Amino acid sequence: MSGLTGWITQAARLGALAGLVLLAACERPPMESVQHGFRGTAMVQVYNPRIIEANADLHLAPPSLPAAAPDGPKASQVFKNVKVLGDLSVGQFTRIMTSMTAWVSPQEGCTYCHNPADFADDSKYTKVVARRMVEMTRDINANWKQHVAQTGVTCYTCHRGNPVPASVWFRANEEPAGANFIGDKAGQNDPATSVGLASLPNDPFTPFLLGSENIRVNGPTPLASGHRQSIKQAEWTYGLMTHVSTSLGVNCTYCHNSRSFQSWEGSPPQRVTAWHGIRMARELNNKYLEPLADTFPVHRKGELGDVAKANCATCHQGAYKPLNGAAMARDYPELAAALAAGAKATSP
Ligand code: HEC
Ligand code: HEC
Ligand code: HEC
Ligand code: HEC
Repeated sequence: MSGLTGWITQAARLGALAGLVLLAACERPPMESVQHGFRGTAMVQVYNPRIIEANADLHLAPPSLPAAAPDGPKASQVFKNVKVLGDLSVGQFTRIMTSMTAWVSPQEGCTYCHNPADFADDSKYTKVVARRMVEMTRDINANWKQHVAQTGVTCYTCHRGNPVPASVWFRANEEPAGANFIGDKAGQNDPATSVGLASLPNDPFTPFLLGSENIRVNGPTPLASGHRQSIKQAEWTYGLMTHVSTSLGVNCTYCHNSRSFQSWEGSPPQRVTAWHGIRMARELNNKYLEPLADTFPVHRKGELGDVAKANCATCHQGAYKPLNGAAMARDYPELAAALAAGAKATSP
């Protein structure tokens, strides 16, 4: 082979290799598309059937234990230190303990939360957290029906057999002022999976799922009236929306009519469910998870000392409805009861 042809072949090979590397981030066709909105509105959902098939097991709900008899003495009469599940019969109580073990700590067993010498002892932080989690799960099922409907959630919805759910978030460490010459880069150009590796602020959660910043791109009033949305706010909004789409495994047009992303008129009803979901996630983080900061050990906390928090992916994990809509909670009415009126929540 002459020097020149050899060089050209070599370059072509390198080029093909570079092309492959670039394309590795893309999904291989063929895709499937499903019409979602009105005909002609281009509101089509594009699915990759191979990804759906590969993840099918993740979205299967485990079988529920058979219901236990409600009669006999109450847990509060038999056990020493029950603060939230006291109204259950001993059979129902034991069924919940067994299920919680399967959902949260199947490898570790009962002693993940319990001191084996004394089950009434609260010295393990995991038990204190779990008690609060029971209250949180009840709150979701009883008071957030506008989001979770009759489908509801159990511990498994988030935990899937792991003590720490697969998808949680911490506050991102902001750079101190003046740390780089373009000023506050707000977590941009730091590719993060939270925003699909795009150059968007990589913590869209603190402003919206902890704080209650406006999720907007356009201001609601003319500039002259002094109201405006900053570019930063717009970028945060796109960061959150990227998270929302990837968490549910859907395209933007699952909730938006691309004629106008802002207008609610013409948006599919799922957008309303999502609106409630944003408020719900915000409340779970502020009411349950953040107040547990002193209970969690240091090794469970983020760089800034904050606790792991929930976002859309914590429950959905890539499915349009968690567990593809399996109504697990129906078999666990103990986890659907609201706090009895006037009952005091356990601390923290
Ligand atoms: C994920 C944490 C967790 C796991 C795992 C767990 N428990 Fe519990 N357990 C709790 C919590 C929280 C309470 C307190 C409930 C309350 O205050 O209403 C409790 C209370 C109890 C009590 C009452 C003790 C007393 O006298 O006050 C018994 C008995 C018990 N659990 C048995 C078990 C058994 C048996 C297993 C394993 C099959 C188990 N638990 C697994 C969290 C857990
Ligand atoms: C909305 C999602 C969600 C639901 C539902 C949920 N949890 Fe959690 N849970 C979390 C998050 C987020 C954490 C914080 C992760 C960590 O431990 O750092 C957590 C932490 C825990 C921990 C501490 C684990 C550890 O090793 O630090 C226990 C124990 C626990 N949950 C038990 C339960 C039980 C029992 C239920 C059902 C009654 C439940 N959870 C329901 C989201 C959830
Ligand atoms: C699961 C539903 C859902 C998906 C998917 C979704 N959004 Fe949104 N989007 C919403 C909701 C709900 C709001 C309003 C939030 C609020 O006001 O609290 C919103 C607001 C917005 C806004 C702000 C409009 C304004 O008023 O200025 C933009 C822009 C936007 N979304 C773009 C996108 C893009 C781009 C995608 C795809 C990457 C996307 N959305 C995917 C539900 C969704
Ligand atoms: C505590 C668990 C949990 C969290 C956190 C959560 N969801 Fe959901 N979501 C559910 C459940 C359960 C359903 C099923 C409700 C039903 O059957 O209609 C659901 C349904 C939905 C639907 C309706 C899908 C459809 O096709 O009808 C949308 C849209 C949605 N969630 C968006 C979100 C967004 C956006 C977030 C984050 C801001 C979020 N969810 C956070 C549990 C959760």
